[in-house]
Amino acid sequence: MKNVVLIPGDGIGIEITAAVKTILETAGAPINWIECEAGLGAYRKLGNPLPDETVAAIEEHRIALKGPLTTPVGTGFRSINVALRQKFNLFSNIRPAITLPNVDTQFKSVDMVIFRENTQGLYIGKEHWIDENKHAESIAVVTEEASRKIITAAFEYARTKEMEKVTLVHKANILKLTTGLFLEVGRSVAKDFPDIEFQDLIVDNMAMQMVMRPEQFDVVVTTNLFGDILSDLASGLVGGLGVTGSANIGDDAAMFEAVHGSAPDIAGQNKANPIALLFSSLMMLEHLDEKPIAENIRKAIYKTLVEKKVKCTMDIGGKGTTDSFTEAVCSNL
Ligand code: NAI
Ligand code: MG
Repeated sequence: MKNVVLIPGDGIGIEITAAVKTILETAGAPINWIECEAGLGAYRKLGNPLPDETVAAIEEHRIALKGPLTTPVGTGFRSINVALRQKFNLFSNIRPAITLPNVDTQFKSVDMVIFRENTQGLYIGKEHWIDENKHAESIAVVTEEASRKIITAAFEYARTKEMEKVTLVHKANILKLTTGLFLEVGRSVAKDFPDIEFQDLIVDNMAMQMVMRPEQFDVVVTTNLFGDILSDLASGLVGGLGVTGSANIGDDAAMFEAVHGSAPDIAGQNKANPIALLFSSLMMLEHLDEKPIAENIRKAIYKTLVEKKVKCTMDIGGKGTTDSFTEAVCSNL
């Protein structure tokens, strides 16, 4: 058995982590869940949205599956998600967007994965007022070292998965030092991967290209803010936030989570789509060298989408619930 820290989190997190646990157990995944708290629920109960025991458990087991966390507003706490990524130096945020069978979108053959730099850029939280007249400043940090790590991870992924091209997204025409450095490092890393095509695009053009011809992209690598925005865009191309998973990977720890948040508008109503967190858990199983189990579950999900669409949740055109989807996947396993 492999120990994995499980953080159900807030809002729909409770429902979707329960669904994922049931499906992984039914599939025979050899996982021993260590349940821990974080987020708004933990803050209300323990006065701390990121309790020490949760951090200690991740420190010990080095792998976590995490539901979405609501960051308490107006408490002085920064995003717990950002804090966790920085604490464990989870520098690669990997977000695949793949067209699914029988999920209605205009795009038929999207198969791309966004590598978002996860620890730097504008997300380091260095913002301040510069004078009394409501003038604010925000600082973006980009380093050669961190850029090299994420870009190398993107190229290595392309090579392992036999994907043809890496597209680096930047705004080096305006942000010449920060994203300019990211581009410069990209060009240098590309020389070590002559078997993989390298392309760079300015972020605004990228946004347009992704909507016009998303099938042209394989692996995309970019800085933190652009990656955040473009990965939600990519989710939108394949059926929305309910169907895209993600991995946060560092040198010696990994945390898997859905791209979406705690969806307070549908929490507790048995409406949440567990597919996003389920796909994240399949990335986790691959990371744990349990690829055959991950593939079985993927097949069961696809079969459910094709043969039992009514059992799927409403965000992807089904007529079912979190529970009916979970039962359908389990019966297809
Ligand atoms: P959200 O992603 O929670 O919801 C956006 C929309 O998508 C809502 O209409 C929601 O119902 C829908 N949606 C999201 N996931 C779904 C699912 N699995 N099935 C069906 N529909 C789904 O974004 P929002 O509302 O901006 O944020 C809510 C809270 O989540 C905030 O406190 C935010 O800070 C937090 N958040 C946490 C993240 C994390 O833990 N990684 C990521 C993004 C937001
Ligand atoms: Mg986001």
